[in-house]
Amino acid sequence: MTFPRAIAVPPEFVTLHSPACTAIWEVRPDEAPLWRYWGPRLPDGVVPPAPLRDTRPEPSFSLHFDQPLSIFPTMGMGWFGQSALVASRAGQDWAQAITAMRVEKIADGVIFHMADNVARIAVAITARLDPATDTLTLSTTLTNAGDDVLEVGFLASGNLPLPVDADRVRSYGGRHNSEFVAIDDALTRSQWRRENRRGLTSHDCFPGAIVSCADGAAYGAQLAWSGNHIQSIEWLDDGRHQWTMGEALAPGEMRLAPGQSVTTPELLATCSADGANGVSWAFHRAIRTRMTWPDGVMKPRPVHLNTWEGFYFDHDLDALKELADAAARVGIERYVLDDGWFKGRDDDTSSLGDWVVDARKYPDGLMPLARHVVDLGMEFGLWVEPEMINPDSDLYRAYPDWALHIAGRPLLGARNQLVLDMSLPQVRDYLFDAVAQHLRELPISYLKWDHNRDLTHAGNRAKFRAQVLGTYELMARLRAAFPDVEIESCAGGGGRIDTGVIAHTHRFWTSDCIDAISRVSIQRGFLQFMPPEVMGSHVGACPAHSTGRMQSMPFRAGVALPGHFGVELDLRKLTQTETDDLAATIARYKALRDRLHHGRVWQGEAGDSVVWQAHGDEDQLLLIVTRTAPTTMRHQPHLRLDMVDPARRYRLTRDGTAAVDMDGAWLARMGLPLPPMKGEEVLVYELSAR
Ligand code: GLA
Repeated sequence: MTFPRAIAVPPEFVTLHSPACTAIWEVRPDEAPLWRYWGPRLPDGVVPPAPLRDTRPEPSFSLHFDQPLSIFPTMGMGWFGQSALVASRAGQDWAQAITAMRVEKIADGVIFHMADNVARIAVAITARLDPATDTLTLSTTLTNAGDDVLEVGFLASGNLPLPVDADRVRSYGGRHNSEFVAIDDALTRSQWRRENRRGLTSHDCFPGAIVSCADGAAYGAQLAWSGNHIQSIEWLDDGRHQWTMGEALAPGEMRLAPGQSVTTPELLATCSADGANGVSWAFHRAIRTRMTWPDGVMKPRPVHLNTWEGFYFDHDLDALKELADAAARVGIERYVLDDGWFKGRDDDTSSLGDWVVDARKYPDGLMPLARHVVDLGMEFGLWVEPEMINPDSDLYRAYPDWALHIAGRPLLGARNQLVLDMSLPQVRDYLFDAVAQHLRELPISYLKWDHNRDLTHAGNRAKFRAQVLGTYELMARLRAAFPDVEIESCAGGGGRIDTGVIAHTHRFWTSDCIDAISRVSIQRGFLQFMPPEVMGSHVGACPAHSTGRMQSMPFRAGVALPGHFGVELDLRKLTQTETDDLAATIARYKALRDRLHHGRVWQGEAGDSVVWQAHGDEDQLLLIVTRTAPTTMRHQPHLRLDMVDPARRYRLTRDGTAAVDMDGAWLARMGLPLPPMKGEEVLVYELSAR
């Protein structure tokens, strides 16, 4: 009896390069490709010095056959780390191992076609490293090649190696009204793991994270998925870490019949020698390439007016028309009628599902308001929450079984509502018709698509995954039928912010909290992963409805400025000074939006409650400096702007002050001296290279 100790076949190396990143695998025809490198760009032609196992003598009391991290690590290889696949056939075939592998080259990437001829599965992992965005995408297709059902408990979208000096991970938690709370954890020999089980992307667990390394490099990954997910990072015996991401599956949720295949959501990953700002830049570019705009290009992001916090459910046609008049006067370009317009919807206890106009509030339908808005030169948008149903609705009375439930268990309500079963074609057909009717009859160019509860009892057999796919399908169908309509992804604010849904939508409602102080950190977390043009940022009322705090109009407007700017208050109640200040910011936004929404974004902190972000490129930058609390220092801190070109000189201008010229090297090393700032203040500088 001899135990296998090594593989005699010499490996080949598969290398992908983008301008900033390199990925290298060691491949052989009878095992899953081994990860040799994933990190900042290596020179062309670089190859690992030796097959990996030759560099790793057998440690005492260890398996004779060394199993380093592969792109598809599984238990049948003697892999003791996280398995990319947890599956069995009624308890059999649980320890999979790849026995055959071939590489197919595709544009900017490869497909590793693998099979386990013992457990009878086929696996194809597609890896693409996009030269335009420095983003590596991984996705996995699993096929049941056996003749009985394969029960899948977990199937990773991808596994990535992290270098030995990776030492911290930043992920994001939160709740309704408090999204993107940064959570910083040290990477140790213990496993780091975040799981979302709320059925949609959630406020609580953003599906992505940023890992930072001792040498200043940063790695980022995010899952393009609007449902349950798992992200884990686990220390490996060679000092690296394994970063795994994939959908979180409920028991019985993924059962593959003989011959059936499933493909995971994509994992987007990137790395940057320049740290977290380099990671954002890659993600922003990747998301820009995934978005599908009406007519193929993003038009300048129109200034929004949303009726929610100004009116809530209290829809009075005359008042709403007056609001439109006031909106047009300050320069607003899109008017979105929020919740409360449909039959019997006077509060949040009823009517979701009954998508017909409330004849008490709108005796002649929505056309008089929509026409009024459009005649004022603005677009008209409408709020819907298609996946939801109130038990107090005609829809529920007619089709109670359309609501997801578990027989014999109490219905768990949240905001008085239940969730429709989006896996049912008749439900999707009903919703398509209900929404399409308004899109056909009214001049609607925008939908705000909400989802205001977590998903719990997702069917007698769990349907979390089917729910996400059903929603994507309905969105895609509406987009195909009404290609000029843009969609906003909202879920009680930022509960559905992810790279999966953005392929069907055009804006995120970042948070129901529009307190400007709270928004500073929420928006900074958002911008780590998503570009500014899809960040819904509104000027709210004073005091802020979510927190009760009071902020000046210039501060509220300044914080909202860099995103997709909007207003969410009753404009009729503003003082003349507030109206003038708001109109001035709207004019400024229109002048700056092309520069805010196309370039790169850098974010930094100066200490003493001062943060900054810069938009543009090394030639032309807009620098937004925000102070969120009064200074504790006699003299203001300097802002070190390490993205400027140290070899050039820059002209700096700021409203109401004389232009000054400064050396890039000075701005980068010593920093920009700041003027005294109020406790809550936003300053906007323009920097142009000479
Ligand atoms: C959610 C959204 C809000 C608003 C309300 C309407 O909370 O986030 O912006 O649309 O629903 O009920």
